[in-house]
Amino acid sequence: MEIKAKENIKKICKNVLFDEPMKKHTSYRTGGSASIFVKPETIDEFSELIKYLNSDKITFLVMGGGSNLLVKDSGYSGVIISTKDLKEIKILKSDGTKFGIKAQAGAGTQALCRFAIENSLSGMNFATGIPGTIGGATFMNAGTAIGSISDIIDSVGFISPKGEYLTFKKEELKFFYRKLSLSHLNETFGDLIISDISFTLKKGDKENLKNEYKDLLKRRKESQPIEYPSCGSFFKNPAENPAGLLIDRCGLKGLKVGGAMVSEKHGNFLVNFENATTEDILELAQKVKVKVFSEFGITLEEEVQIVGS
Ligand code: EPU
Repeated sequence: MEIKAKENIKKICKNVLFDEPMKKHTSYRTGGSASIFVKPETIDEFSELIKYLNSDKITFLVMGGGSNLLVKDSGYSGVIISTKDLKEIKILKSDGTKFGIKAQAGAGTQALCRFAIENSLSGMNFATGIPGTIGGATFMNAGTAIGSISDIIDSVGFISPKGEYLTFKKEELKFFYRKLSLSHLNETFGDLIISDISFTLKKGDKENLKNEYKDLLKRRKESQPIEYPSCGSFFKNPAENPAGLLIDRCGLKGLKVGGAMVSEKHGNFLVNFENATTEDILELAQKVKVKVFSEFGITLEEEVQIVGS
């Protein structure tokens, strides 16, 4: 990266790190370094930065909590922008029964679940235990068996490559299973970056909401290996059968490559059990895919986003 570009980025954002190891910022705790790692503290900094990187044609990616991101060991030669410091959550309007909430992209999904409970608002508990930020969750339409982020969204605010702020209603956005497709908007406006999310919650009973949350968290702990670093579900669930069930039926639980292992608790969790590299995880994933295909003729598709040079 040119020195001039580094200086320009430092002029826009205070919080800039060079050659930053991504294992410090991903839930997998693996990955090489990002040439530049930036954490904007305000939406203005964020949009200025996006405008500058686009105008100087500098490669970048935006990350949320790093809970669905696998960075290659060779690192990322470009700018990684973390939204983690853009975490404001506000109640915008209410008629006493419905409450309009606006959250900046970097607000934690669990912070939102807790915010909803604190304010006796229902509709957010389906997301209990989903790690990462609400921006990341929106980008991949994260969800559980009882709901997806798209169920509660009213509108999403974006930053365009020119640094403009644009809002689109849910009807204008294309949500799919574990995916938000923006290609129809990107054709007109250029690659859009999520800035904030607006949604509606309803008046609920605080104690009931709290108990439901605790119960869902308990069930998650029982069925998922949250004691090890991972990205949650590694593969999307194919239409035919859940990935975890297919992997389990292949007898792959406990399979290891280096420090990576198919969890004994849940087949769709490829955990970093002991200082795994990204290469270990990718090699393990490949073995799993080959076996599942040979047994069932189904090609598993990664849910995790793999980046790097
Ligand atoms: N199963 C097995 N063996 C296993 C794992 C699962 O037979 O080793 C079976 C289970 O018994 C169940 C089915 O497969 O009948 C589905 O498993 P589970 O209920 O654990 O849900 P999942 O489909 O694997 C989804 C989400 C999770 C979310 C859970 C709970 C996807 C890809 N994953 O998992 O989300 O926590 O439901 O609602 O949709 C994530 O996306 O990172 C994530 C953790």
